[in-house]
Amino acid sequence: MTSAAESYLREYHDRKPDAMSVLIESGRVTGDGRTSYEVLADRVAPARRVLDLGCGDGALLAVLARRGAEKLAGVDLSSGQLDLARQRPELAGAELHHGRAQELPFEDDSYDAVVSHMAFMLMDNPEAVAAEIARVLVARGAFAAVVGGPESTGATPVFLELARPLFREVPEERQATYTAERRTSNREGIDEVLAPAGFAPVSWEPYEIDLTGEPEEVWTLCCESYYSTDTLDDAQLARLRSAFLAETEHLRTADGRLPAGLCVDLAQTELLK
Ligand SMILES: C[S@@+](CC[C@H](N)C(=O)[O-])C[C@H]1O[C@@H](n2cnc3c(N)ncnc32)[C@H](O)[C@@H]1O
Repeated sequence: MTSAAESYLREYHDRKPDAMSVLIESGRVTGDGRTSYEVLADRVAPARRVLDLGCGDGALLAVLARRGAEKLAGVDLSSGQLDLARQRPELAGAELHHGRAQELPFEDDSYDAVVSHMAFMLMDNPEAVAAEIARVLVARGAFAAVVGGPESTGATPVFLELARPLFREVPEERQATYTAERRTSNREGIDEVLAPAGFAPVSWEPYEIDLTGEPEEVWTLCCESYYSTDTLDDAQLARLRSAFLAETEHLRTADGRLPAGLCVDLAQTELLK
């Protein structure tokens, strides 16, 4: 059954179907040059059959298609995002399902790898998701997930510091309800969830997505990085924007750009069955 958190996420992403891929594709992994989608896709290459949980508008699946995966599938709560995914020429042959990762419409042992970009950590009842991943993976199949870390750099923590008091002002009925499950944002929590389903302890790779740009661009990207920004009204947003641009002025580089980064973690493991 769909939870309140899932209804929230579905409604948000239906309304802003490309927000996440625009955010992620605006950034490059520091010292690397690839997008975060490319880093994750490269981790599971050369898997032939790959399933993306919480696939959004198909940006990661499109990278996997370009990397040569032969059978691709994605599942997401948001039909708005899946509509965009279906318009991608690379995904003409992909199976894109509107549904929940807790109840996968796939046969046992049908994928070599399961991936999830900034989505596993948001899923309710992750034990049920882990059991479904284990069911659809082949023996020694890979599970790799990028999850949001608590840290950020440059102007991003300034944004959060200024925004948090405003988030608290939002009446309870309008607050973002996506935070039902946060254990899967950290290594220990992910191991706890995955081990009973038969997975080895995860390897853990932290990296930064560099979002440095013109101050107005960074402002927009910071807004898109946190669901709660969407709960602010116009007056609160205007206050936040002025404070953000003023408080980050000293961080600007000589050419006027504003450094900013999002820190994420890539957890990867294999199924021991
Ligand atoms: C932050 S977005 C990331 C989207 C995409 N992976 C990307 O990085 O561009 C999180 C996604 O997870 C999806 N999601 C959350 N819980 C889910 C669940 N239980 N089953 C399927 N999708 C889910 C949301 O609908 C949303 O599209």
